[in-house]
Amino acid sequence: MSKIFITGAAGFIGSNFVKLIAEQRPDWKIVAYDVLSYAGNLANLDEMMGNANFKFIKGDICDADAVDKAIAGCYFVVHFAAESHVDRSILGCADFIRTNIDGTRVLLDAARKHNIKRFLQVSTDEVYGSLGKDGLFSEDSHLHPNSPYSASKASADLLALSYYHTHNTPVVVTRCSNNYGPYQFPEKLIPLFVTNLVEGKKVPVYGDGMQVRDWIHVEDHNRAIFAVLENGNLGEVYNIGSDNEQYNINITKMILKYLGKDESSIQYVTDRPGHDRRYAIDATKIKTQLGWRPQIDFATGLEGTIQWYLDNKKWWSEIKTGKYLEYYKQQYSDRNK
Ligand code: NAD
Ligand code: DAU
Repeated sequence: MSKIFITGAAGFIGSNFVKLIAEQRPDWKIVAYDVLSYAGNLANLDEMMGNANFKFIKGDICDADAVDKAIAGCYFVVHFAAESHVDRSILGCADFIRTNIDGTRVLLDAARKHNIKRFLQVSTDEVYGSLGKDGLFSEDSHLHPNSPYSASKASADLLALSYYHTHNTPVVVTRCSNNYGPYQFPEKLIPLFVTNLVEGKKVPVYGDGMQVRDWIHVEDHNRAIFAVLENGNLGEVYNIGSDNEQYNINITKMILKYLGKDESSIQYVTDRPGHDRRYAIDATKIKTQLGWRPQIDFATGLEGTIQWYLDNKKWWSEIKTGKYLEYYKQQYSDRNK
């Protein structure tokens, strides 16, 4: 029987991964570790409470003593915990450097000490920077992070790979494109726009709205992580993407249509500083080597996601209060073009 240590387990992707493991490997023991930052929410793990193989520990990945105690006896580590929002990293990046880089260092040291058998570092396509009109990111593309967030993630994934080369720590790294799905914090494009529209507010489209992201459903991302965890080659990187490039403005229009709104709900606002224009992933390696394939097409996945937010207003309206509103004001006021 295996025991798996999952950091950031109360966040959007981490909580979905916990549920995947509980379903696919019901005999594994799961240690879910999360500091419950503004983005962490125990409600995301409601259905796990009462599962005898599941244990939640509230803790900071930068706290070496707490990590040391929590990780003991684990076989796998899957490291999701991070400050994950680009716009917040532009407002100030101290937390990003602390959690994303030093937190990863603490975990890698604990993995060495406790003889962890596989350490999966969850990284992002943003480490590659921005593409022009053509081309795709491959695992061999140069790293060119452009935001403080992506620079901190690139640092963390290089640090993880350096532990493999220097100390033989059994690291694998995944770099995935933009995720969407239920339980995503309503600061990110899709949940922000859906919830704003339900509240009768406008949706703030940055710049000309012609930036491209390569969207993947969170369940497809996590099935890929699971495949890499069990069968990926140590010391290697695996790109994850769904061949689904979309202009931001097209997604905005799909959301408007589903909710029966028109384009008068769009507010074009000043662009994000340093905004990457296009991301697109070449996922040939994981498909050919590990046989992974995305299963959820975008139109179906997006509709299911919008409907989830319509059906779970309680979940997000409890978030969109207090500190969230302060952040929203700081981020969006005085931003009209
Ligand atoms: P999220 O912001 O929803 O969740 C992050 C979680 O980490 C939260 O539960 C938070 O409480 C926890 N956390 C933050 N600081 C911590 C600390 N110091 N100690 C312990 N826990 C801490 O993020 P997400 O969208 O679920 O992203 C998860 C991971 O996936 C991140 O590493 C991110 O870089 C990566 N990623 C995200 C996407 C995406 O589109 N969301 C795409 C590719 C990669
Ligand atoms: O590519 C993977 C990355 O995707 C992850 O590493 C990050 O953790 C995740 O947050 C995401 O980063 P993005 O910056 O691409 O996601 P976000 O949802 O913030 O923005 C998506 C696009 O929408 C981007 O081009 C900016 C634009 N946008 C975003 C917001 C919040 C707007 O036009 N208006 C907005 O209000």
